[in-house]
Amino acid sequence: MRILVTGSEGMLGGAVVDRLGKEHEVSGVDREDCDLTHEDETVALCDRFAPERIIHCAAWTDVDSAESHFEAARAVNAVATGTLADWCRRHGAGLTYVSTDYVFRGEQRGGGYDEHSARDPINAYGRTKAEGEEIVEALGDLGQVVRTSWLFGDGPVHFPRTILRLLSERESLRVVDDQEGCPTYAGDLAEVLVFLAESGRGGIYHATNSGSCTWFDLAREVARQGGQEPDRIRPCGSDAYPRPAKRPECSVLRSHRLEEIGCAPRPGWRDALARYLDLLKSGKVRFP
Ligand SMILES: NC(=O)c1ccc[n+]([C@@H]2O[C@H](COP(=O)([O-])OP(=O)(O)OC[C@H]3O[C@@H](n4cnc5c(N)ncnc54)[C@H](OP(=O)(O)O)[C@@H]3O)[C@@H](O)[C@H]2O)c1
Repeated sequence: MRILVTGSEGMLGGAVVDRLGKEHEVSGVDREDCDLTHEDETVALCDRFAPERIIHCAAWTDVDSAESHFEAARAVNAVATGTLADWCRRHGAGLTYVSTDYVFRGEQRGGGYDEHSARDPINAYGRTKAEGEEIVEALGDLGQVVRTSWLFGDGPVHFPRTILRLLSERESLRVVDDQEGCPTYAGDLAEVLVFLAESGRGGIYHATNSGSCTWFDLAREVARQGGQEPDRIRPCGSDAYPRPAKRPECSVLRSHRLEEIGCAPRPGWRDALARYLDLLKSGKVRFP
């Protein structure tokens, strides 16, 4: 299949290009190739490569700055997605849109969301991604919306990397224990995206590593697996770290549809973290 991957310099896009390159004709593009908010350039890019599917990983991902730059975030996450969706509709190509648990309100601890749960975002980033989802859903069978959460992997900035750095700089740290979600390794998500691209089945999917935890649990696991004393990490409430954007308290994504179409079970998040930390130790990464 001829597949165009947007956001190929990003954490997920890089993993998808690596994984797809083994079996498909892939073109990975990022901002220096084409700013997706420039409609003409984007259409010309698609015309040139003529993909059978676009895996759209590019996004405005800075959740806090989206609060004060709503239109700029929307231009990437919704409007540019609309440009790609129009091209796909005209050419009968598939569009895979990577979305987020932040399309949900997440007010209930111990709760969670199924694929058909109603979107109800509580921050600007979530609103722009929810709009992108609606655009892709309108493509019918050509559109795939793949929600994921709490990504880590071979990228410059993510939570496990921040915890490792802070542990090397400070004696102890406090991490919030009142937000629950599903940590997800970009390499494992890339496997699911390839499976979905090959299946060609439209709809909404929830793709995370299995299991859920709080940021505090994840931080302690990073410490433990990184050979540090987990007790150096203490729990605190989100009010200890006021941020511009509200976060859902519980945005656990439950998966049914991937199972229905025969996708293999996703590995647990602890196992995924161990594989990522091993890779980091080996130095065979883009961001050592
Ligand atoms: N990270 C998470 O925890 C998380 C959680 C749930 C869902 N997601 C979703 O997963 C997907 C991948 O996330 P990620 O963490 O891999 O993102 P990332 O590392 O921030 O990569 C996003 C890429 O998109 C590019 N991009 C942004 N605006 C662009 C534009 N106007 N034109 C062309 N390229 C543009 C960025 O380039 P620049 O660096 O130049 O801006 C960057 O290379 C996104 O759809 C995100 O919403 C992420």
